Amino acid sequence: MGLRIAVAGKGGSGKTTVSVLLAKVLSGDGRKVLLVDLDSDPNLANALGIPAASASPLVHRKELVAERTGSTGEPGGMFILNPKVSDLVGTHAVRCTDRVALLPVGAIENAGEGCYCPQTAFVRALVRRLVLEKDESVILDLEAGLEAFGRSAVEGLDLLLIVIEPGMRSVDTAKRILRMVPELGIRNARIIVNKVRPANLPTLRRHLSADGLSTDIVLAYSDELALRDLEGRPVFDYTDPEFETGMRTTLCDLGE
Ligand SMILES: Nc1ncnc2c1ncn2[C@@H]1O[C@H](COP(=O)(O)OP(=O)(O)OP(=O)(O)O)[C@@H](O)[C@H]1O
Ligand SMILES: [Mg+2]
Repeated sequence: MGLRIAVAGKGGSGKTTVSVLLAKVLSGDGRKVLLVDLDSDPNLANALGIPAASASPLVHRKELVAERTGSTGEPGGMFILNPKVSDLVGTHAVRCTDRVALLPVGAIENAGEGCYCPQTAFVRALVRRLVLEKDESVILDLEAGLEAFGRSAVEGLDLLLIVIEPGMRSVDTAKRILRMVPELGIRNARIIVNKVRPANLPTLRRHLSADGLSTDIVLAYSDELALRDLEGRPVFDYTDPEFETGMRTTLCDLGE
């Protein structure tokens, strides 16, 4: 069975990097993976080495959203709450490798709490009813913070990965996300501490455990990863053995 995994956390904590490195682990183990970019400021394509021009977010395709939702674009106008979107993975996913593809979905900026517009209905339908290949796993690269949870794009996950970077603000965001987990039908949540320098790990672990949080997976700070972003290079072929072992152990613990 394919897995349904989402990656959440504070802005800049490393969600996109982790999503790509997780796709590498899963595909390296022979699994098919669909990466879904749900960020209103999407950059998953860049991290995968896919030209941005071939991965423009579906939610920004006005004609497509209008066609599927029946919306005329009039503010307050009628639209279909549950649009048909089941064909869109087949028509719009961009292939990255034999086993990995990207679906650039995007999100509406400043949608605000409780906003329910045609674009939101479109994204929600798309994410909830992703039509996957047999045994294909899906990784949702979420928007920073809590926004994606309010939009209910993340129900019924097998695993929610919350990325923390060394810093209490990022830990606070993780705690807020974790509080929302019970309502969302998420079966498992795990913490990834990212950008850690070895000297800081004991302190971070201490702070986390004082808050009742565990350090499940570690992705060390890497000049190479930072440089790749600086130079606009993809991260798909980057290897961190500790991260990969941590990720595989976590998946194994879930019975995968
Ligand atoms: N382990 C790491 N070592 C060094 N730099 C890292 C590491 N992980 C991520 N980065 C860098 O941190 C920055 C943010 O990473 P990334 O884009 O993955 O975060 P994000 O959480 O997806 O951000 P956003 O909230 O904007 O979507 C990038 O410049 C990336 O290269
Ligand atoms: Mg990101």
